[in-house]
Amino acid sequence: MNPFTFESPTRMFFGEGQIKNLANEIPLDKKVLVTYGGGSIKKNGVYDQVKDALKNHNWDEFHGIKSNPQYDILMEAVAKIKAEGFDYLLAVGGGSVIDGTKFISAAAKWKGGDPWDILTDQAPISETLPIGVVLTIPATGSETNVLAVISRGKDKLCLASPLVRPKFAIMDPKVSLSLSPRQVANGVVDAFVHVMEQYMTYPVGGKVQDRFSEGVLSTLVEEGPKALAHPEDMDVRNNIMLAASWALNGLLATGVPQDWSTHWIGHEITGIYGIDHGRSLTIVFPALLQYCRKDKGDKIAQFGERVFGITSGSKDERIDATIAKTIEFFKSMGVPTHLSDVQLNESHIDEVVQYLAKHKMTHMGEHEKLGPEDAREILKLAL
Ligand code: NZQ
Ligand code: ZN
Repeated sequence: MNPFTFESPTRMFFGEGQIKNLANEIPLDKKVLVTYGGGSIKKNGVYDQVKDALKNHNWDEFHGIKSNPQYDILMEAVAKIKAEGFDYLLAVGGGSVIDGTKFISAAAKWKGGDPWDILTDQAPISETLPIGVVLTIPATGSETNVLAVISRGKDKLCLASPLVRPKFAIMDPKVSLSLSPRQVANGVVDAFVHVMEQYMTYPVGGKVQDRFSEGVLSTLVEEGPKALAHPEDMDVRNNIMLAASWALNGLLATGVPQDWSTHWIGHEITGIYGIDHGRSLTIVFPALLQYCRKDKGDKIAQFGERVFGITSGSKDERIDATIAKTIEFFKSMGVPTHLSDVQLNESHIDEVVQYLAKHKMTHMGEHEKLGPEDAREILKLAL
């Protein structure tokens, strides 16, 4: 097991009716900017609950942060903050609103040139505005983590800083009832792949981490299809929201190797071709397992045995069966598993490879040996 440091200081409020806690979490002397997306929160009652909780606060709002949040829109919020002097941000939405708000919080305090440098040069952030979150879609884990993914045109890049981690996250699974089946599925498979990126490498004797990961994976495999078949079942919704958050709050990555290749390749597919984030991952991941089956074989077999109960056959046969079961799970969630499922073909691979090279993705994987040309081969396996 590798040495590590871990903290997860975001205060989590989980369960029905928790939105009212906003009132106590944001100091009354703060001027609050509430950020949200295209308006789902106005239809499902979340906006009204937030409004009610903030009735004694001084606040205004900024909306229109769409999926795969774009730099230009976010900079409009930064201009509003600078002009009107907000000193607390409340993100009400999914990963896109939360990530966008994280960028806004850093850009509003940025003393350098263009805040886009935070993403392209990984320029260090030294100051941010505090952020609170009301989560509306279980998926990214952004509500308690240090990451944000921001787009500018076709460039979709990641920032990581403890200074953008939300102070608190309100997670009321009831709020997720208004999600479309497509968004439910996208969230479940995104969380599944987040666990995989921290688990599917090689064994380092991290028994606790492995069992944590396998617990979250088993939960997602069991509950994901139920969320589509029985959308009103609150036990299912509760477990999915918790699983998605634990999947990427940093806990599972402690002391173990990681391989974020599926995300790096998936981000380019989303950035260039607009495929939903979760769906880009389910296209890449099975092909990555196939391409890296030698390096990852021990963990693929372990996952197959512990999550899918695959115990018979040679190791190669068990690896094949595990990859097949993973694809079957994705299909049960109604998400694509091949490029052809989203009308992409061999002619689209080159641009993905070029963008990976542009974004210096030359040392991907747990052994840092996968580059853009490996991504080409992986994508060919995903045709
Ligand atoms: O904009 P509104 O109207 O709110 O609609 C949203 C949006 O259209 C809708 N929605 C959200 N909650 C709803 C709802 N509709 C009905 N009822 C609700 N309760 O769902 C749509 C998708 O929302 P979005 O925030 O884009 O989804 P998600 O949470 O999957 O976030 C995706 C973004 O997160 C990034 C992705 O790259 C992508 O940009 N990621 C962030 C990560 C992180 N910060 O740790 C890690 C991930 O790997 C990922 O890369
Ligand atoms: Zn993701």
